[in-house]
Amino acid sequence: MSFGDSEWQSLGPLHAFDIGSVTAAKMDGDYGNRVDVAVVRTKAGCDVIVDRCPHQGVAFTDRGCLNANNQLVCTWHNWIFNLPNGTDTVEPGIQLQSVESQIQDGELWVKSNPDLF
Ligand code: FES
Repeated sequence: MSFGDSEWQSLGPLHAFDIGSVTAAKMDGDYGNRVDVAVVRTKAGCDVIVDRCPHQGVAFTDRGCLNANNQLVCTWHNWIFNLPNGTDTVEPGIQLQSVESQIQDGELWVKSNPDLF
């Protein structure tokens, strides 16, 4: 993996995304579009997900919050999601599809994936 590859792009310094937060960010899509993503940080990890609830499509950055088990809750209908990297519980939850991400030298990088958008 090389971060010089055009398919990797930076979302900025990791410290810009607070632990316990669901923060909006934009990434470039494969077709010249801009894609809304949510950066979700818990004490257990960091995830980047498409900013759209799989139930009815509201933005997690508008209606999402974290519960005590580091699960993402969409408060529109209270569906609960396990985060691929950031959930530290065995509680049941729906697995979210995430955007591949890496942290290198304190910076958060995401990999473009046409299947996500
Ligand atoms: S839209 Fe998110 S739970 Fe219904």
